[in-house]
Amino acid sequence: MILVYYLIIINLLAFVMYGVDKKKAEKNKYRIPESRLIAVAVLGGAYGAGLGMLVFHHKTKKIKFRVVVPTFLVLNLICIGLILYGNYHLVTTEYEVNNALLPDELDGYRIVQISDLHNQFFGFNESVLLKKIEKEEPDIIVVTGDVVDSTHTNYEIAESFFKGAVKIAPVYYISGNHEEWLIEKNAEKYEAFIKEVESYGVDYIDDRAIDIDGIRLVGVSEMSLGKSIYTLPEVEKKEKEESSESALMVVLAHEPEYIKTYVEDGADLVLSGHNHGGQVRLPGKRGLVSANFKFFPELDAGVRDYGNTKLIISRGLGNSVAPIRVNNYPEIVTIVLKKDN
Ligand SMILES: [Fe+2]
Repeated sequence: MILVYYLIIINLLAFVMYGVDKKKAEKNKYRIPESRLIAVAVLGGAYGAGLGMLVFHHKTKKIKFRVVVPTFLVLNLICIGLILYGNYHLVTTEYEVNNALLPDELDGYRIVQISDLHNQFFGFNESVLLKKIEKEEPDIIVVTGDVVDSTHTNYEIAESFFKGAVKIAPVYYISGNHEEWLIEKNAEKYEAFIKEVESYGVDYIDDRAIDIDGIRLVGVSEMSLGKSIYTLPEVEKKEKEESSESALMVVLAHEPEYIKTYVEDGADLVLSGHNHGGQVRLPGKRGLVSANFKFFPELDAGVRDYGNTKLIISRGLGNSVAPIRVNNYPEIVTIVLKKDN
């Protein structure tokens, strides 16, 4: 949405600048430099500039403007198309996770991970995203934070996502840094949102462990990142045993940088997001910048192995401060559990 606001503002600005300059020309007053009129068209305002030229009959005889403005009209359109495609073309990445202790009935179990939605709009009531999730035939859906953005907050988009998701499979949700900031801003509003999504059937598992289908699912809140899960009030230690309720320990933790703690806690699988794939994916599949504005972050996306612990980092679905993804399509992650033989 930030990009849309930018385009509206710069095109309005361009239109006004061409109108004002025309008026100034008529009154022989101090003029807006031509370089600025060109620059505003180049920087995304070519539509406002073109319209300004036509409406105010301004600069229409100058070759420079007759070439540059239409050229950037086409280039702006191509850029907008590429940006929209880069931001809304949903892809699914599938990972296989092998584990010797996996009970037979969990062989082929499918976990869909959704991360960093940031109020991104994927069709009416998130229908495009939900349809794609449904296609994955998940046994459970885990949501690893930053569903609601704290800068362009829209709880309704998040609610419509959760409302649809619970119809596909049981949904487990933890907070990210944006949820933490929303709590700091207006805790009452955030609590009302959680109550609302819980009323749909979403299980908000911040700092809680639950046993489902032979999986021990541990949700770590943003506020508890880096603390051992056994220091959390609702997480007790259980021995891992084949065919037991807790054969496989899956930890949901929004930021991957705390992986060391969960390796020490004996997690089999840790699911994170947060870094949006580095926002721009450079050749060689390296992410440019982390959510904490570090260049070339080590834990940008994909899978990492730490002994018996596997970390999967989702590139996420939306954007926050940086509104553009380049070579970094929004991602749904599907994890397929396989019994090691
Ligand atoms: Fe995020």
